[in-house]
Amino acid sequence: MVSKTKTSAPGKIIISGEHAVVYGYPALLASLDRRLTCIFDAQTKGQEINSSVNDLTYAWKALKICERSLRHKFPNVKITIDSNLPVGSGMGSSAALAVAFAAGFNRLARNDFDLEAINNLAYRIEKVRHGKPSGGDNTISAYGGFLWYRKESENLRTFSPIKIKRKLPRLYILDSGKPIESTGEMVAGVKKDTATFMAMEKVTRGILRYLTGEENVNFGELMTENERLLERLDVVSPQTRELIKKIEKLGGHAKISGAGGAKKGSGILLVLHKDSQVIKRLAKSVNCAIIPVKLGGEGVEVENG
Ligand code: MEV
Repeated sequence: MVSKTKTSAPGKIIISGEHAVVYGYPALLASLDRRLTCIFDAQTKGQEINSSVNDLTYAWKALKICERSLRHKFPNVKITIDSNLPVGSGMGSSAALAVAFAAGFNRLARNDFDLEAINNLAYRIEKVRHGKPSGGDNTISAYGGFLWYRKESENLRTFSPIKIKRKLPRLYILDSGKPIESTGEMVAGVKKDTATFMAMEKVTRGILRYLTGEENVNFGELMTENERLLERLDVVSPQTRELIKKIEKLGGHAKISGAGGAKKGSGILLVLHKDSQVIKRLAKSVNCAIIPVKLGGEGVEVENG
């Protein structure tokens, strides 16, 4: 029986299709090279979770769901969480925690690495965090790379890895500020809007054809179109809209990525500009951090600790 293990799972960005994906429309997701790591030690006395970054209430709920789902009690387990994913900013920190927990407890209880089982368990944990997740965030964190994702129904969540056939333009991640609202509140605030979701699907399909080299579309313009549709859903704050307008005036493109935020900060922005200096100057002038990332990081990893 394994008593120690170390798991890690990547964060994510949503290239296109957030919110619409909750209602069964497709989304394009990419994992990041930034990760959340958990060290599990099942040889301690009692249960203990330590983290300097993540929400411990959520982590405790995740532990209880793992125990229930795996029908296995872990009366003695110490979990130490470490992460370089900012919490609640759209980079998938909670989904990475769900995946890393699911992988860790799966290993301790069954000594196996069943990616589908890990992803399904992580989806159950995500449901506790926000009532009706699409399952996209945990799936990209589990599998990594680039994914086309769609939730057809509660029990049929389909996805396919995408082979990127062209050199991706350099994307910057700009932090527009931590949203006041939680992901759950943002998702609950978006009502079914078929016209907007269908328009978003068209954009998502356009970006897919661009990434796979099937069509020479203007990636930046599609990003801007996606942003306008997200603004129609009221998930981008006035302050963030202003920042995005500034980027557009400077010849760039930008969109929120993830649940967004309507009151103040809207989490991370994906920014495209051919001149990195322009973005760096702008970020400095508005006091926003640029977060360096690479897309397409490895999915969940498990090691014996
Ligand atoms: C959050 O990262 C993405 C949303 O589409 C919610 C979800 O897919 O569960 C807003």
